Amino acid sequence: MREDGYLTFALGKGRLANKTMELFEQLGISCEEMHDKNSRKLIFVNEEQKLRFFLAKGPDVPTYVEYGAADIGVAGRDTILEENKNVYEVLDLGFGKCRMCVCGPAEAAELLLHHERIRVASKYPNIARDYFYNRKYQTVDIIKLNGSVELGPLVELSDVIVDIVETGSTLKENGLEVLEEVCPLSARMIVNPVSMRMETERIKGLVDRIRQLLKTK
Ligand code: PRP
Repeated sequence: MREDGYLTFALGKGRLANKTMELFEQLGISCEEMHDKNSRKLIFVNEEQKLRFFLAKGPDVPTYVEYGAADIGVAGRDTILEENKNVYEVLDLGFGKCRMCVCGPAEAAELLLHHERIRVASKYPNIARDYFYNRKYQTVDIIKLNGSVELGPLVELSDVIVDIVETGSTLKENGLEVLEEVCPLSARMIVNPVSMRMETERIKGLVDRIRQLLKTK
């Protein structure tokens, strides 16, 4: 929260930002400027309600919120867990539902039972490490990839992967399956701890209104 009285939101670019704005609009919080699909603008302001929105890459949202560049952020739980920043997670927005899973060819299920030192490819090395080391007590080698992680077992880079599963069709089309579920995922609202203290009424008021709205859905 800056001294100018604006509340600033960092939204994960794309579907998350669109869904968030749909929700806000139902509460009478809108930002006309954001409707122009051809615009390359990154910051949008609602002068009347003293709100500012900016669009960031999903994994950067917790960083903006931790440093207070944004008071509030919306990001996937996958990103929030992976980035592990000092932010408060205040609300499950209910959209973007999917699961973080350990996946691989059916034969790899055996490797998960005997604490073997296997290779795990993932775009989420921290989540993968935490799952294997702290929950399964299995020492593994984590290999960080930046996308198309399903390739890992297909080209024998890794035994399994830790990745997001939504419909399951990427796995199916590549002869892979879910072997274990790490955790459920969805879009979450996060808040900077200082903003929460300084602007308690305003932020809690907003969170409560969104919570009420979500209940009616
Ligand atoms: C995500 C995820 C899986 C896929 C899962 O990838 O990493 O690959 O979607 O969806 P499904 O279960 O509905 O098939 P994304 O499309 O974001 O691209 P990426 O592989 O480059 O991360």
